[in-house]
Amino acid sequence: MTTGRPHVLLVHYTYTQQALKMSDAMAGELRERGCEVTQAAIEFTDAKYVDRFKRFPMSHAFLDVLGMMPAQVRRKTGEIRVPPEAEGGAYDLVCVFSPTWWLTTCMPIRSFLKLPTTGALLDGTPFTDVVVCRRYWGNNHRTVRDLGVEQGGKYVEGIHFAYAGGQIRSLLSLISYLGSGEYRERFVGVPIPRTNLSDTQVEEGRAFARGLAERVLTPAGV
Ligand SMILES: Cc1cc2nc3c(=O)[nH]c(=O)nc-3n(C[C@H](O)[C@H](O)[C@H](O)COP(=O)(O)O)c2cc1C
Repeated sequence: MTTGRPHVLLVHYTYTQQALKMSDAMAGELRERGCEVTQAAIEFTDAKYVDRFKRFPMSHAFLDVLGMMPAQVRRKTGEIRVPPEAEGGAYDLVCVFSPTWWLTTCMPIRSFLKLPTTGALLDGTPFTDVVVCRRYWGNNHRTVRDLGVEQGGKYVEGIHFAYAGGQIRSLLSLISYLGSGEYRERFVGVPIPRTNLSDTQVEEGRAFARGLAERVLTPAGV
């Protein structure tokens, strides 16, 4: 049954909950503006990699992160589970929340974007992306855009959120967080900033969602 309201699908994969946090914030904003919103979580089920992502914090943060490098550099895909809501349907807009792993789109989202069912979902449909990352968003954005366009989607400019700190301190902060689940002041003796999304960035995400709502609520706006 269609409600006559624009229907927006928000698809995410998340390990440390930042993609989900942004999806929740944007979903609230879109709903407030009269959109029907469906949120869908991709599950990473690949037997080769799943163990390290089953628990949080990681047992060996540095090694667990490093262990994903070969597959990410080779742009490998892996086994995932896609909920039925993200396997097709008549959405007015699809938004993909895409964490960066090793400079590019994480394996679960890349795998999702390459599935035939994603072709059915995106064909002729406007789609956008939200990149969450410590620092590297460019390749991730381009990858989501290009794979989505290959599947027949019409790309709408997305947004990215990178975390505090320069090259070294943001990395130390990420490793510290992945290994402890806590925001610590120092790691290996070095003062570190807080990793993950700031409240200001969540507000920016809400503003981005308001722009998307305007597009889908305006006839021929997307
Ligand atoms: C295996 C792994 C590799 C990562 N590699 C990068 C990277 O190359 N560049 C970057 O900016 N962030 C990198 N990150 C940081 C993530 O993009 C960041 O933690 C983001 O919040 C993950 O999304 P999530 O919280 O929804 O799981 C990596 C994180 C993990 C777990």
